[in-house]
Amino acid sequence: MIKKWMWLLVVLVAVCCVWVGAAWAGGWAVLTLENWPEQVVAGEPVTVRYALRQHGSHLISGVEGTVTAVHAETGERLQFTATDTDETGYYETTLLLPTAGEWRWHIDSFGRFEMPPLTATTGTAVPAAASAPTTLLANPTSFSWVLGVLGVVVMGTAVVLWRRQQTRFAPAAALLGVTLCLAGFVVAPTVGTRASETAVPPTAELGEILFVAKGCVTCHQHSGVAYSGIRTDIGPNLSHHQVGAEFLRLWLRDPAQVRPQTLMPNLELSDREIEALVVFLSGDGEASVASKTN
Ligand code: HEC
Repeated sequence: MIKKWMWLLVVLVAVCCVWVGAAWAGGWAVLTLENWPEQVVAGEPVTVRYALRQHGSHLISGVEGTVTAVHAETGERLQFTATDTDETGYYETTLLLPTAGEWRWHIDSFGRFEMPPLTATTGTAVPAAASAPTTLLANPTSFSWVLGVLGVVVMGTAVVLWRRQQTRFAPAAALLGVTLCLAGFVVAPTVGTRASETAVPPTAELGEILFVAKGCVTCHQHSGVAYSGIRTDIGPNLSHHQVGAEFLRLWLRDPAQVRPQTLMPNLELSDREIEALVVFLSGDGEASVASKTN
């Protein structure tokens, strides 16, 4: 009789060990959205790609992922299944938000990762390059070069004509050359500058969005960011963490280059993402527009 109880106990303890072990091995993860969708049009597909790092350190494949989006006003609820890509630890899905307006969304995979809300607009998205039909016009600087060089060539021709005593055409050619040069080298570059200025600059608001979307919130608290998804707080509180912008750039590009033993992973941020995070983290730690409207 005693023996039977002993066996039951052993089995119970073993089951407990396996259960706790499995939970421990699963642990936690950091989800990093690869591209924050800055322009979402109702009814048009948006590709969402993310990386999953177990314990914040190594990329892990084969974890189920579901994206849930809920329309803030109508309550319309949609689910999308994310699937593994060929790249280890990277997952992808396509969202189709049929109605314009604000969508709250989160990704369930190893835990619940809340994402900053998306605003779907009506009408079609206009990518920056689409407004300029030819490749030359898409790059005003090269267009100005072509004009300028053409101008020089025409002026050269004018000189040749002059020397050959073709005085009838020479003044016209010289005038055309000067005009082309002016248009190319003087006027066009200012057009080019204006065009590049219209690209959306990396703002503190974008930085705050990325602080959530890139998974910084999983390891860091920040008083300007409201977040109720999965978090570990293994990193320092960054609300008033004022370090120089130059240091931040180096740090965010690759933390292990700065401190080889650090637990902070390289989240493979782009230059623009780094700039936005630098602007946000160099702020005063107060909530900005994005979190106030949440
Ligand atoms: C897996 C957890 C984890 C994630 C994700 C993470 N960090 Fe960290 N971070 C840490 C830890 C741990 C430290 C402490 C650094 C150390 O000394 O090793 C740290 C330190 C920092 C520091 C302070 C550096 C210094 O020495 O002054 C900044 C700033 C920072 N992280 C920003 C970010 C930003 C921005 C993101 C998102 C793009 C991010 N972290 C994502 C864990 C993380």
